[in-house]
Amino acid sequence: MVTDPQANRIIIFDTTLRDGEQSPGATMNLAEKLEIARALAELGVDVIEAGFPAASPGDFETVQRIAASNFGPVIAGLARCSAGDVAAAAKALEPAHKKRIHVFLATSAIHREHKLKMAKEEIVRRTIEGVRLACEHTDDVEFSPEDAARTELDFLAEVVEAAIGAGATTINIPDTVGYAVPAQMGAVIRYLKEHVSNINKAILSVHCHNDLGLAVANSIAAIEAGARQVECTINGIGERAGNCALEEIVMALKVRHDYFGFDTGINTPKLFRTSELVAGITGMRPQRNKAIVGKNAFAHEAGIHQHGVLQNAETYEIMKPQDVGQSHTEVVLGKHSGRHALRARLEEMGYQLSDEVLQKVFEEFKRLADKKKDIYDADLAALAKGQTESSSWAWELIALSANAGSGATPVAAVKLRHIDGHEVLEAASGDGPIESSFRAIERITGIELVLRDFQIRGVTVGKEAQGEAVIEVEYNGGLLRGRGISTDIIEASAKAFLSVVNKILAQGDAPNMPRPHAP
Ligand code: KIV
Ligand code: ZN
Repeated sequence: MVTDPQANRIIIFDTTLRDGEQSPGATMNLAEKLEIARALAELGVDVIEAGFPAASPGDFETVQRIAASNFGPVIAGLARCSAGDVAAAAKALEPAHKKRIHVFLATSAIHREHKLKMAKEEIVRRTIEGVRLACEHTDDVEFSPEDAARTELDFLAEVVEAAIGAGATTINIPDTVGYAVPAQMGAVIRYLKEHVSNINKAILSVHCHNDLGLAVANSIAAIEAGARQVECTINGIGERAGNCALEEIVMALKVRHDYFGFDTGINTPKLFRTSELVAGITGMRPQRNKAIVGKNAFAHEAGIHQHGVLQNAETYEIMKPQDVGQSHTEVVLGKHSGRHALRARLEEMGYQLSDEVLQKVFEEFKRLADKKKDIYDADLAALAKGQTESSSWAWELIALSANAGSGATPVAAVKLRHIDGHEVLEAASGDGPIESSFRAIERITGIELVLRDFQIRGVTVGKEAQGEAVIEVEYNGGLLRGRGISTDIIEASAKAFLSVVNKILAQGDAPNMPRPHAP
């Protein structure tokens, strides 16, 4: 681990198992914590804060087991500045090859007066005592002045100087309540560098909470001002609104290496897998649009964006999904998608469509996307098949309206367009809205069919799913089958009926029919 405070290597101190576990509802058992600790080691974090040994026998055992596993990173245990806490941390960390005791004591006026009821002198005295006790067990001792971001700067500098004087090798500056803003966080670090005489004997660290959504920005400001360790958690979990998200800060430093010039030891292609592990264990799933590890982080729906990424992913992506372990750029087809994305997806599915047919599929796709949020490959396949079959058909369904309901005579009005451009509107009644629409189609086309079988099935799942109607009819002594799809089953049925009519016309064995005329 780099200890030169001037170096450009940022130490990643992961506190998913300690601060992260303090997220309401994120309690983990021993086996789960061991699994996460192993994954963190594989990810390449420098320090794993495994728990707070004095907090409970369970926490003690966890720290001890993780320490004994010696996965590779330094193992840290948290302790208040008291003999009992430091002794518990030291004991739990005994089996670790690389161990750190992390002692903390609040320094802000509000904590001094209302929580600790201690004067400033008492805080300094206890800080020195706590750090010295920890130094009896290891020479890797971290001190955190809790609520540092709300502490008077001159007093903060006094405590930090005392802690370093007592032997602390890392000074961590927590924004315990997520109150700081970036410029201020940077100014605190710069102030300490200028006003603490022994500051070069310790690494400066930062620990930001996310109450204002600024944890990552504040951590970056601290790094730019001279901090060389950042405390963070996977998926940003932690007390209240959480902590600085490890995956976000690491990728910010990596993607903008040109700007910052800092490195970490994180094996970034393992980020997604580690995020999934923590999400699965804690039940706290990152939101879809979460940076780096959210499901939408590499998904594009807008047509212009899809066209861009299909030509060159860098048009709309600043990092490759593989860089963070997400499998691929996802082009999500929805109502904002364009023709290019649709053609690309259909080609991937094996459909090579002419420009004319693609245009028709695209129009149908846009109509469908207005009705249906998720468009599956099965929907696209149904549209492509439907349009491929019908591209040379004589009649096309333009509009359909049908009524149904008890007491009323079912009536359907159907408008068809002939291939020569004429449109014809007819209405008819029948036993129900579907039969009425069939009768209207017969009136327009002059072809009468005897229905033998009729089935409806969902193309995909969900209440907005498209329905596929398959009909079997008798005509001239032979059986013919037709199919039609739509989110409306009456329309799907009419399309199926019309497809049979068109097949008959295409075979040229229709009876003499009146030439269609303009209404
Ligand atoms: O938020 C905080 O102040 C902490 C300290 C114990 C570092 O978690
Ligand atoms: Zn914290």
